[in-house]
Amino acid sequence: MKVGILGSGSMGGKLGTIFARAGHDVVFSYARSDDKLRELARSAGPRARAGTPREAVESADALLLAVHWSRVEDVLRQGGDVSGKVMLTCSLPFNATDTELVVAYRSSGAETLAKKFPGLDVVAAFQTVPSEVLFDVFEARAREPRPSLVYCGDSDEAKRLAATLIRDAGFDPVDAGSLRIARYTEPFALLMGQLAYEGEEGPEVAYRFERYGSR
Ligand SMILES: NC(=O)c1ccc[n+]([C@@H]2O[C@H](COP(=O)([O-])OP(=O)(O)OC[C@H]3O[C@@H](n4cnc5c(N)ncnc54)[C@H](OP(=O)(O)O)[C@@H]3O)[C@@H](O)[C@H]2O)c1
Repeated sequence: MKVGILGSGSMGGKLGTIFARAGHDVVFSYARSDDKLRELARSAGPRARAGTPREAVESADALLLAVHWSRVEDVLRQGGDVSGKVMLTCSLPFNATDTELVVAYRSSGAETLAKKFPGLDVVAAFQTVPSEVLFDVFEARAREPRPSLVYCGDSDEAKRLAATLIRDAGFDPVDAGSLRIARYTEPFALLMGQLAYEGEEGPEVAYRFERYGSR
């Protein structure tokens, strides 16, 4: 798959590296320094390169949006025409100080994006794990059971691509339903943030759902 990374910080930098190491062609874009993008691409290996948001969008089968909520408009403006594209978003609709969701309960960041860009197939994914655990999960991908990762969206085809990337990153994809469910997954991400950053056991935390019963 060709994957365009829009926002190459903690989440985009690590997930792009993981996707490239899993065999996908990755374009890292949108950081404040081109040197940083080039260095990320170099360390991610031969399947990765640095580019502009437009270059990341142009050839992509899937995009990963990984910027602060306040930068979403800017990066998507720089990306150009996104209609017909699949976009995974790990971005959470935080205020400037990352203390509150500015969209919640009756909508979500992911739904807001889908409304704003009607031709874009948005999948909410990777919002619910801290960046610090991503390489650990990827390294442990041969071990069972894998940690869960919830995702949701309105397009089956887009969700199929998202599930592939989630699996390739070492997680067990859990289809939570339509994009509307992002209004539940996004607040859940704050719980994960609480456990990761306010606890005493460090931020390398993921989660796993278990089902019981005879079915
Ligand atoms: N971090 C997590 O564990 C985590 C977990 C779940 C969800 N999220 C969500 O994922 C999204 C990304 O989070 P993150 O932690 O990856 O953020 P981050 O590390 O700050 O990365 C954001 C990227 O955007 C770039 N950027 C910011 N302002 C820019 C500008 N004016 N021009 C060009 N590039 C600019 C940054 O550039 P530089 O590289 O130069 O700084 C960086 O590459 C957020 O919405 C966050 O809420 C984060």
